[in-house]
Amino acid sequence: MPSDTPSSDQTAFQQATLTAGGSSVALPVDRGTLGNPCIDIAKLPKETGCFTYDPGFTATAACKSAITYIDGDAGVLMYRGYPIEQLAKQSSFLEVAYLLMHGELPSAAEFSNFDNEVTHHTMMHEAFRTFLFGFRHDAHPMAMLVGMLGSMASFYHNTLDLDDPEQRRLAAVRLIAKVPTIAAGCYRYSIGWPMRYPKNNLEYVDRFLHMMFEVPSEPLALKPVAARALDLLFILHADHEQNASTSTVRLVGSTGSNPYACVAAGVAALWGPAHGGANEAVLKMLGEIGKPGNVQSAIDKAKDKESGFRLMGFGHRVYKNFDPRAKIIREMTHQVLGELGVSDPMLEVALKLEEAALKDDYFIQRKLYPNVDFYSGIIYKALGIPTEMFTVMFAIARTAGWVAHWLEQQTDPDARIGRPRQIYTGYAERDYVGIDKR
Ligand code: ACO
Repeated sequence: MPSDTPSSDQTAFQQATLTAGGSSVALPVDRGTLGNPCIDIAKLPKETGCFTYDPGFTATAACKSAITYIDGDAGVLMYRGYPIEQLAKQSSFLEVAYLLMHGELPSAAEFSNFDNEVTHHTMMHEAFRTFLFGFRHDAHPMAMLVGMLGSMASFYHNTLDLDDPEQRRLAAVRLIAKVPTIAAGCYRYSIGWPMRYPKNNLEYVDRFLHMMFEVPSEPLALKPVAARALDLLFILHADHEQNASTSTVRLVGSTGSNPYACVAAGVAALWGPAHGGANEAVLKMLGEIGKPGNVQSAIDKAKDKESGFRLMGFGHRVYKNFDPRAKIIREMTHQVLGELGVSDPMLEVALKLEEAALKDDYFIQRKLYPNVDFYSGIIYKALGIPTEMFTVMFAIARTAGWVAHWLEQQTDPDARIGRPRQIYTGYAERDYVGIDKR
């Protein structure tokens, strides 16, 4: 575990000097509590006329944040200083959501108030249902979720003064509370089942499972292992500092946009297979591999750049040794399948694939390890959650992180509109030619 005092080589330099076009500029070096030193290049364009080029932001910090810390080399993930392993074992998703938003773990009274508030904001405005019924019956639930969350901006715009901290906090609570209701609504609409209202006597995760699976014809027996597994997955997915979707929420937030629109944009960014869509892609891939005997040919295909095929659920932009969330989830996967009595041939394929990839030079050299999504899809499948809902599940959990980052950004004295530069590679100036002469 990293200590919170910088190592001696980190304290060794206070500034970096960059020489460009004959002039030298001294750039200050900024440090957080933990992590790499950051060279502050804000004055570079003014002093040298140069921009910096960093596609994918692999070397660029876009903000200061006190929410989540990741050490990709050491496989460390902490929310507000608490290691993910401790939160996974001892906390609950709702408590983690409070922690991310407020910065501290709640007292018993604070938690009870928060739980009560979230519980009493879970209902959807009835007009939402009409809105939902406008989607095609076979719409992807992520498409519906983007639309539904965007529409929240139209439902609550009159009660949202961004300068009022209480109204900002209420928007965050509403998002955490309503996303499961909307997600379950999208699912039930897609299969033609009647909507289920949220039940206040159930806890956050059981309430969601009830809204997903209860049918009018018979009572639903909620299984404790299902709630435990889902709560754990929600904790692990709750935040991951400046990932693509959180950065999107912040970019949209930087313009002063409505928070519901910001989170809708985050959902859109999460959807892609390189990000949250990977858990859906993992199951599709495991289904295509089909049996353990086909694992080696899948590995060979993933190594062949011409094939355009990658092992879904392997590799991570930040974790280059192991993903600590994958370690926790791997254990839970076996527990869930055991307790629910599910014997899933896909797990056999998954384990064989993991074993073969971890032994293979291509994956070792590139530090490609199973990420959190490699196992989460198998758990979701065992819980009866359909594949196209997997990324929606991720979105429910990540909403806690998105709102925490949006809240933090609103009071950040350094926050400015996000506006990257570019290297222009198009034509230099040329004259317009009339259509008759082209
Ligand atoms: N299978 C095969 N090869 C891979 C894989 C993979 N899953 N991931 C990376 N590589 C290879 C690349 O081809 C590249 O090889 P090269 O050096 O010979 O050119 C090298 O490893 C580095 O890959 P990059 O794409 O540069 O790594 P980057 O950090 O940009 O990408 C990413 C990370 C997007 C996660 C990538 O590993 C990937 O596509 N993985 C599969 C999708 C996935 O599981 N996404 C979920 C991420 S976790 C999350 O969002 C919760």
